[in-house]
Amino acid sequence: MERIQTALQKAKEQHGTAWRRELPPTSPTLPTLDMPWPKIPVRQPDLKVMAKNRIVTASHGDPAHAAFDILRTRLQHEFRQNNWTSVGITSPTPGCGKTMVSLNLAFSLANQKNCRVVVVDLDLRRPQVAKTLGIANPCALETYFKEQSDITDVFVRYGDNVAVAANGRPVRFSAELLQAPETTRVLKAMKQRLCPNVIIYDLPPILANDDVMAFLPNVDCAILVVAAEATTVSEADLCERELSERTKMLGVVLNKCRYTPDKYGY
Ligand SMILES: Nc1ncnc2c1ncn2[C@@H]1O[C@H](COP(=O)(O)OP(=O)(O)OP(=O)(O)O)[C@@H](O)[C@H]1O
Ligand SMILES: [Mg+2]
Repeated sequence: MERIQTALQKAKEQHGTAWRRELPPTSPTLPTLDMPWPKIPVRQPDLKVMAKNRIVTASHGDPAHAAFDILRTRLQHEFRQNNWTSVGITSPTPGCGKTMVSLNLAFSLANQKNCRVVVVDLDLRRPQVAKTLGIANPCALETYFKEQSDITDVFVRYGDNVAVAANGRPVRFSAELLQAPETTRVLKAMKQRLCPNVIIYDLPPILANDDVMAFLPNVDCAILVVAAEATTVSEADLCERELSERTKMLGVVLNKCRYTPDKYGY
C-alpha cells in the first residue's frame, strides 16, 4: 500500500498542478449534417448486471459514483484546456479495473446532458465491455475497422448521449489491426460523424502485448489504472514512463483500495 501511495504522490506532483488551472469557457458543440446518433439502436441500461459488475454511475444509488464524478471533472478541465477528445484507459497487467473505470467514467460524463460520450472496446483479444453491460450478441468490431460494417451496426446507445461499441469477437492479430492505416481512418470518420466531446478507449494491459503501444498515436492522453496490493511500484513506474513517452498522462487511478479516508463522512 505504502508503495502505491508513493507512486500516486509522484503522479500527483507531476500532474497535480495541471488539474487546478482555471477553466476556459465551454465552447458550444457544433451540429453536423450527417449525425447518426438518432439511428443508433437504443438500449435500456441493465442496472442489475451493471451493479453486479460495479458500474455505479448510470444511477445515483451508490455513493461510489462520487469518485468517478471527481475523475470526470478533472478530465473535462484538461480536455477543454488542451482541446482534447480522446483518452485511452490502460493498466500494467490484467484485471486492474480498466473496463470498470472506462464505463463508470462514461456514464458519469453522460449525466451531463450536453456531453456526448463514445466508448470503444479496444481490448480486442479479451473484449469485456459487452459482458460488463449485459449486451447480448454485439457485432465484431474488426468488421467495422475493415469498413465492412457501419456505426449503426456496431454501436448501441444509452439515452441521447452515450454510444458504446462493444466487441463480439476476439481479434487474433490485434496489434496489426490497431496500427493499420484503415483503423486510423475509420476512427477519424467516427469522430467526425458522432462529434463526441469525449471518446474513451478501453485498452488492453500494457505489459501483456504491444497492442497499447501500437494504438497510442490515436489518443490525446491516457489514464493508468493500478490495483492496490496487486500492481508493484516498478510496474506502475515502467508503464507511466512508456505512456509519457508516447502520449500525455492524464493521471493514475488507484483501484481496489480497501482503505478510504473517512473525512467529511463520505
Ligand atoms: N474497486 C474494485 N473492487 C473490487 N473489485 C473490482 C474493483 N474494480 C474492478 N473489480 C473487479 O475486478 C475484475 C476486473 O475488473 P475489470 O474487468 O474492470 O478489469 P480490467 O482491467 O478491464 O481487466 P482485463 O484486463 O481482464 O480487461 C472484475 O471482476 C471487476 O468487477
Ligand atoms: Mg477490461
